[in-house]
Amino acid sequence: MAQKNLYIESYGCAMNFSDSEVVASIMAEHGYQSTPDESDADVILINTCSIRDNAEQKIRHRLKQLRGRKERNNELIVGVLGCMAERLRDQLMEEEKLVDVVAGPDAYRDLPKLVGEVVDGNKAINVLLSLEETYAEITPTRLNSNGVTAFISIMRGCDNMCSFCVVPFTRGRERSREPETIVREARELFEAGFKEVTLLGQNVDSYLWFGGGPKKEFGKLSEEQKSEAVDFAKLLRMVADISPSLRIRFSTSHPKDITDDVLYAMMDYPNICNYIHLPAQSGNSRILGKMNRTYDREWYMEKVRRIREIIPDCGISCDIITGFCTETEEEHQDTLSLMEWSQFDFSYMYYYSERPGTLAARKYADDVPLEIKKRRLTEVIDLQNEISKKKNAARVGSVVTVLVENDSKRSDQDWMGKCDQHIVVIFPKEHYKKGDYVDVLIEQSTTTSLIGKAVGYNNVLKEKVAQNAEL
Ligand code: SAH
Ligand code: SF4
Ligand code: F3S
Repeated sequence: MAQKNLYIESYGCAMNFSDSEVVASIMAEHGYQSTPDESDADVILINTCSIRDNAEQKIRHRLKQLRGRKERNNELIVGVLGCMAERLRDQLMEEEKLVDVVAGPDAYRDLPKLVGEVVDGNKAINVLLSLEETYAEITPTRLNSNGVTAFISIMRGCDNMCSFCVVPFTRGRERSREPETIVREARELFEAGFKEVTLLGQNVDSYLWFGGGPKKEFGKLSEEQKSEAVDFAKLLRMVADISPSLRIRFSTSHPKDITDDVLYAMMDYPNICNYIHLPAQSGNSRILGKMNRTYDREWYMEKVRRIREIIPDCGISCDIITGFCTETEEEHQDTLSLMEWSQFDFSYMYYYSERPGTLAARKYADDVPLEIKKRRLTEVIDLQNEISKKKNAARVGSVVTVLVENDSKRSDQDWMGKCDQHIVVIFPKEHYKKGDYVDVLIEQSTTTSLIGKAVGYNNVLKEKVAQNAEL
């Protein structure tokens, strides 16, 4: 079989980037080797995102750019994967003539066949969603890897039906991946020199494995069977047991589902990072109800209180949407006051973008004018920047443990890594290497990073590793 080159480009959330690595692995089995250079490629796959209209527009723009390449090389195969492929299906091929292959998130095992059909002169599409597919046994080919940190998908899909969100439609029903395959993947990464894994799912707290059936069957199990099930807290412990010098992160947590068990697992294992991404979306209970988030302002605040009680100095970040349907000025103020109260380390902030087919698009008028949505977004961003700046400044003078990931963006004389709370830390390289755990004394701060100097290797982890070696 002649070797061909595959170039994959990813947009959207970490799950999409993680899926691209599964795709690279599946394609490699069929003679397609990944290349970082699109001009070398025989096949170009764009893994797309539909979360907001501007995410889709960006991809449309990118496809236009690719037209020229395709005109110069008519054997080039262009495929669209991911959420936009799932949402638009054959419409995408009609609108974007250069697209030869359309494959949804559960159809990646079929990609070599789909690409083969194009070689034979046809266009090819598979957008079937699955109730079982988790790509469990596929070892992802790590793309653009720093060799230190990696993503591991632990589940797929989402059953939550937040009224603004397209994900349940593009990614299908929630399903959990068999825990042994997750632990094996993490162990192999650790043995290959990786030091940090991030366990990924749209709602990781809802992870549940009890042999693979649909979740609604769980209630029918005997008490003994139930006790053998693996929930997210148990999974965290299983992965954290691989080695005290493998850091564990996870994303995303849902305020309605995160349990004390998860918080206790974080406390019990120093290698599970003290950091939780806990999207609130809004600080107003009426809006949260309309969003179908199934919690209210008080519930969210109680979760934050609980996290801070069990895990002192836990980093917490948030997602916020401004200008959701019917949001009033007072309700927007509630979002600002929730942010002020919660003191998030950082947030991802957006204005509401109506997505066709979602509950909100069908039931509610998108009635907050764009300029008001944008003005509210600016207020939210300004407040978060103020809080981030203040919180980072408060860390000046403290020592934080950093896992070295890469050169700093500004200088190859400095390292970039993150502390437990997922904040970027920059410090001069000296003799330290990528993958080291270094204690760094923070001397300066900005809104997005901490800057300091190394004071030594991290002893707590070193001792833990030594203790483990003795056991
Ligand atoms: N599963 C995660 C979120 C996944 S989508 C959770 O439940 O929190 C990532 C973020 O995009 C969301 O948290 C939300 O803030 C934002 N988002 C999703 N749909 C959106 C829309 N229609 N308009 C604007 N922002 C949206
Ligand atoms: Fe979307 Fe809600 Fe599922 Fe997150 S939990 S992916 S916001 S439906
Ligand atoms: Fe986007 Fe799909 Fe992720 S819509 S945010 S790529 S799940």
